[in-house]
Amino acid sequence: MVQGGEGRHRTAANARNCAARNTASCPIVVEVEGRKTITRRGWPSRSKQSAAAADDPNKVWTEADLAAEGEKIFAANCAACHQANGKGVPNAFPALDGSQIVNGPAEAQIDLVLHGKANTAMPSWKQLSNTDIAAVITYTRNAWSNRSGQAIQPSAILAARGK
Ligand code: HEC
Repeated sequence: MVQGGEGRHRTAANARNCAARNTASCPIVVEVEGRKTITRRGWPSRSKQSAAAADDPNKVWTEADLAAEGEKIFAANCAACHQANGKGVPNAFPALDGSQIVNGPAEAQIDLVLHGKANTAMPSWKQLSNTDIAAVITYTRNAWSNRSGQAIQPSAILAARGK
């Protein structure tokens, strides 16, 4: 079932870099009784990737890696309302480009994305993994004209869930 072995062994670091880049040619990593083994089957579907990336809340990411992951989360979950260009739709969905919430203290933004806003169309995203939420928040804080330079780590999302 699982192929691989000594000849094709790669380091975990390479596999992680590959996962962060998420290119179609990257192999997937399968956990076999605690050992990481590379298979040659190519990437699974997007949702399975998310599940596989979910969820090491203690991993510390670079801003660039989080933002790259977050761009995909945004396209899949947020762009329908807030638009890929972050400008939203007037009188319906606020712009995240230039938003005071997105450019303000991270705690308030994390709270809003985790729990949504009652009596508005903004849903709760707590079903996403800590890593996915950290990634999409980091992306929006550094996309378009937003320039926080900040990485919001998965551990901050985990901590906010308990509040
Ligand atoms: C179904 C439409 C919809 C989707 C999908 C959606 N939002 Fe929202 N979002 C809204 C609405 C409506 C508001 C405004 C709520 C209010 O009235 O304060 C909002 C507000 C926000 C705000 C506050 C902006 C501001 O300046 O007031 C942020 C940040 C935000 N959303 C992030 C996200 C993220 C991140 C995602 C994807 C994970 C997402 N939203 C998906 C509808 C949506």
